[in-house]
Amino acid sequence: MAETIRVLKSEEEVDARIRALAEQIDAEYAGKQIYMVGILRGSVFFMCELAKRISVPVILDFMCVSSYGDGTKSSGNVRIRKDLDGDVVGQDVLIVEDIIDSGNTLSKLKKVLQERNTNSVRICTLLDKKGRREVEIEADYVGFTIENEFVVGYGLDYAQKYRNLPYVGVVEGIEE
Ligand code: IMP
Ligand code: MG
Repeated sequence: MAETIRVLKSEEEVDARIRALAEQIDAEYAGKQIYMVGILRGSVFFMCELAKRISVPVILDFMCVSSYGDGTKSSGNVRIRKDLDGDVVGQDVLIVEDIIDSGNTLSKLKKVLQERNTNSVRICTLLDKKGRREVEIEADYVGFTIENEFVVGYGLDYAQKYRNLPYVGVVEGIEE
């Protein structure tokens, strides 16, 4: 069976949800500066759209961690492949992620950033597969809670494909 993509969240739905998240974040960080940490590569589309709509000062920085190969299963093993360029001491860090699945990646990362004497560390994720957690971790801001389906688009990939789709879709016909 060939791979096909079924639209799960349309471009318009994603756009509207990001606007609402940005408004909420803006209000909650009033008077502060947000040190946004994007997790490469999946979070970049979401991060840009979110950051553009926030009016408090925003610093953009990136980290790259590996927990997945080219397949669809978590290894539970998280390694920092690229660290932040900046210093986060005293900063209000907002981790921006594409999706939380097992929770392994973010629970590890949140601890790492908290240990750097940050003022606060919160998490904003576009998608949340709550039913798949292996470790306890809650995002502070969630775009959409979704079922246990493998999704692509809006930055998310399947074997590096489909990141540039302007919507979130489910890949059907994956041969495991
Ligand atoms: P976790 O450590 O299991 O929470 O994995 C989070 C990471 O796995 C995300 O940042 C994604 O890169 C990847 N991931 C999890 N589920 C999906 C999916 O449905 N599509 C694409 N990538 C996914
Ligand atoms: Mg990722």
